[in-house]
Amino acid sequence: MANVYSVHDVLQKHSIKLMVGILAAVSVGGLVEIAPLFMIENTIEKVEGMRPYTPLELAGRNIYIREGCYLCHSQQVRPFRDEVERYGPYSLAAESMYDHPFQWGSKRTGPDLARVGGKYSDEWQVRHLIHPQDVVPESVMPSYAFLAATPIDGSEIADHLRALRVTGVPYTDDQIAHAAADFSAQGSAEGADADFDARWPKAASRDFDGNPEKLTEMDALVAYLQMLGTLVDFPKIVPDADFNR
Ligand code: HEC
Repeated sequence: MANVYSVHDVLQKHSIKLMVGILAAVSVGGLVEIAPLFMIENTIEKVEGMRPYTPLELAGRNIYIREGCYLCHSQQVRPFRDEVERYGPYSLAAESMYDHPFQWGSKRTGPDLARVGGKYSDEWQVRHLIHPQDVVPESVMPSYAFLAATPIDGSEIADHLRALRVTGVPYTDDQIAHAAADFSAQGSAEGADADFDARWPKAASRDFDGNPEKLTEMDALVAYLQMLGTLVDFPKIVPDADFNR
């Protein structure tokens, strides 16, 4: 009967057999790492309240990425007591399930922004983005004053929704058909109508940048910042309530 030493002997003397053996051994590790990714849909726990970004929020997010805000800000509260006490409940995988690309970030020159929505007024956000040192004198954050002077419209936003749908974000035909109109309505001084609220639950609609005359990149960015971390009702779903006392 072949014992383990003779198997070894065979492998050592035949390079092809050795290669096949190596492949078999390595593929075990590979399978363990890769197979779960095919079931990624099941590995992210669904969380009540999560919805894809509204057209205006999405435009704001695109500006956030364009301006490289992620170079100084993370969007992931880690599950450690100091983080939870400073920023709020730790981030859940489901909270970035519609993010392509995600904005977890790897550097915090400024604070984490995953739960910044509602922390300040719109006026504060606008003043801060125009000249951060007006509200935080020691700030090293650069000025983004040009955003308030740059008009924006929703003529191309439906394509962004369509592109995200290809990657798996569940935008509906209805949401895509109304994307341009919803884009303007959400940032208008009058606010949006009941159809908008039905299409985009929990979405705030108002003049975000303090300039009701026109829709600007500032409107979009502030709409995005003000919704960050506001969709999930945390007291209801956090499994270990003690952790978040
Ligand atoms: C060079 C690094 C840097 C860049 C780039 C940067 N920030 Fe900041 N940000 C900071 C720092 C530092 C603070 C803390 C001081 C302050 O509030 O200004 C901060 C604070 C903030 C705050 C307040 C957070 C809080 O909880 O108090 C917001 C909101 C914010 N930044 C948004 C942005 C956005 C949006 C962009 C991109 C348009 C951006 N930042 C780009 C460094 C940066």
